[in-house]
Amino acid sequence: MQAVTTYSPAKLNLFLELHARRDDGYHELETVMVAVNRYDRVEVRRREDSKIRVVARWAPSMAVWQQRLPGLDASVLQIPQGAGNLAYQAADRLREAIGSDCGFDIQLEKTIPAGAGMGGASSNAASVLRAVARLCDVPLHDPLLWSVGAQLGSDVPFFLGATRTPAGLPASPSRAALATGRGEQLRAIELSGMNPFVVAFPPQSLSTAAVYAACQVPPEPQASEPLRAAMAAGDAGLMTQHFFNRLAAPARQLSPWIDRLLAAMRALDLNGCQLTGSGSACFAMARSKRHAIRSVSRLAARGFQVSFFVSPLPLPSPLQ
Ligand code: C5P
Repeated sequence: MQAVTTYSPAKLNLFLELHARRDDGYHELETVMVAVNRYDRVEVRRREDSKIRVVARWAPSMAVWQQRLPGLDASVLQIPQGAGNLAYQAADRLREAIGSDCGFDIQLEKTIPAGAGMGGASSNAASVLRAVARLCDVPLHDPLLWSVGAQLGSDVPFFLGATRTPAGLPASPSRAALATGRGEQLRAIELSGMNPFVVAFPPQSLSTAAVYAACQVPPEPQASEPLRAAMAAGDAGLMTQHFFNRLAAPARQLSPWIDRLLAAMRALDLNGCQLTGSGSACFAMARSKRHAIRSVSRLAARGFQVSFFVSPLPLPSPLQ
């Protein structure tokens, strides 16, 4: 096999709480994540030599956004190229771990906004790990993928589909995961009765490290159990009442766009309006597909042109 093309999905954090600040600069967290059907295209091709080349660009559908969004912060448009992209690190570290000197051409065509809290870079890295494994005849369930993935970023194991059931067996397919530790300890959780999510991205991205640094660990952290119970029961209305994100307060302080966007979403009668990850994208649950489509066009008309609706996805099985 010479080339592998995959579509790497985005994620939303329906719940995110911080439990402690760790000595290594990370936080112990508790988060409920769903993979959703907004994708970047990831192509990994073997090279004759041992170089790794990464070319990342926005998909043509995003070009319209780049020209028209009022007040657009230039950093929103930047995608790291070459060795600065996590996709490069993924290929480089996995080949080192398996003792290969294979080279790769990696092309990313992105529709997941960057600096949005939607896990785009981590998802691309997970897709590259899986592609390199396939191109180098490494089994997809090899523990090396998980250990390299966890070193690359806290969300990479989630996108690798490393979800485990409480009994420790691979859970596949799963549509949601409870992540603890740094985000790398995963447990599959039940999910039913989801309506579409409306997601919107303001014209300013946020740095994950900056948002975490501005966040206080609460003396009494909230628990995700009520949300998980509502998810298992398939009660969409109850679910939205338990959407929560501890990082929302610092994100709102760092960017005035968060409050503007959340207010615009609430005005459309969307439920559970919330920040995903460290932002700056926000999401909410629509009552129906029709409500989602109408909300997306109204948000776009109000200047939030990167607005779309998504549905939860099964995560890739480690054994596929
Ligand atoms: O792991 P990742 O590279 O995605 O993390 C980016 C930044 O987010 C870290 O440098 C850290 O500042 C913050 N972070 C954290 N605790 C976590 C995950 C991320 O403090 N569990």
